[in-house]
Amino acid sequence: MRRHVIWRGDEPVSTILVGRGVSSMLPELLTRRAGQRVAVLCQPSTVRLAERLANDLQGAGYEVSGYTLPDGEEAKQLGVVEDVYRFLNGARFTRDDIVIGVGGGALTDVTGFIAATYLRGVSAMYVATTLLAAVDAAIGGKTAVNVDGKNLAGVFSHPEAVIVDIDTIDALPRRHKIIGAAEAVKTGFIADTQIIEAFEADGIDTDLEDIVNRSVAVKVGVVNEDFTERGSRAILNYGHTVGHAIESTTGRPHGEAVAIGMVAAGHAAAHHLDFTGSTRQRDVLAKMGLPLTAPEAEAEAVRAMMALDKKRDSGGLRMVLLEEFGSPVLIHPNDATVRAALAGIDLA
Ligand SMILES: NC(=O)c1ccc[n+]([C@@H]2O[C@H](COP(=O)([O-])OP(=O)(O)OC[C@H]3O[C@@H](n4cnc5c(N)ncnc54)[C@H](O)[C@@H]3O)[C@@H](O)[C@H]2O)c1
Ligand SMILES: [Zn+2]
Repeated sequence: MRRHVIWRGDEPVSTILVGRGVSSMLPELLTRRAGQRVAVLCQPSTVRLAERLANDLQGAGYEVSGYTLPDGEEAKQLGVVEDVYRFLNGARFTRDDIVIGVGGGALTDVTGFIAATYLRGVSAMYVATTLLAAVDAAIGGKTAVNVDGKNLAGVFSHPEAVIVDIDTIDALPRRHKIIGAAEAVKTGFIADTQIIEAFEADGIDTDLEDIVNRSVAVKVGVVNEDFTERGSRAILNYGHTVGHAIESTTGRPHGEAVAIGMVAAGHAAAHHLDFTGSTRQRDVLAKMGLPLTAPEAEAEAVRAMMALDKKRDSGGLRMVLLEEFGSPVLIHPNDATVRAALAGIDLA
């Protein structure tokens, strides 16, 4: 088992535990008095795990109640948040009690939002059950719900602890692993070449415990450098400028869109910075089972979406490019660089 810590100055604010079987340590992680209330929130795919954890907690003397939210993005709605507030009212929740979210990134995002706002803030913990939540969504303190657009309402609030049980991650359907692994290899490209090497050797069948630990270490390191997201956290958006436009115009899963966005960024960097790793990047993404292009995407629609993004950002369009693996830089791309990016994914 490995423990990662997020700090605000000298103060530890959140602990991430990664290992096999670590979800059974949940009762030990709660250091409160017996009789304290615990609300376990889950999604349909995690009901069984949530029930097991609830039983463990009950056995340890906690007063536990459970609530199943709708699946995926359907959970990230203010209407659902209100339903859960009412459920917590019914359970006579107080500020000393704790909410535990068991699920993927959508579930942990909304759990964090609920915990941060109910009674002006109660404690939370997450049990991250998808690879994407484990290496990305559950870490860094961003909580959110969707209001027309994705993640348009939210607050920064860290859970006390995040549990990543590798037994749960290993049991995920292959397709799930591949999509989540896009964010993991992203952390490899921007900061840890051993992640790239591991995927090059074994594709998605590599040791995911090592990948999760390395990837979490990168994200935690970036968050610790830039706790309030004033600047350097932006490197985590590698592949996301074009990726978001692909995601919203084609409906591709986030991980696939980010993979395609990283291919585009690789070509942009070859043009703009003489980056030489573009082919290596394509090869490893392909080996992992990720797409390199989106043949169904329409160049015009992708461009229009990127232009829309640009308007929302006072500094204009921004892109993270690599000088080399492990050396990301944030740039404002000119037209030629954007063209190179899109040409790299057959959209010029
Ligand atoms: N807060 C952040 O910093 C941040 C970062 C990245 C992504 N996100 C958010 O994360 C979400 C995407 O993450 P996700 O894909 O994990 O979301 P998700 O919660 O929708 O999970 C994806 C699917 O996997 C299912 N699932 C969850 N655990 C499972 C398990 N153990 N076995 C089988 N199926 C399981 C879910 O029911 C769901 O259908 C998006 O809402 C995105 O906005 C947040
Ligand atoms: Zn992402």
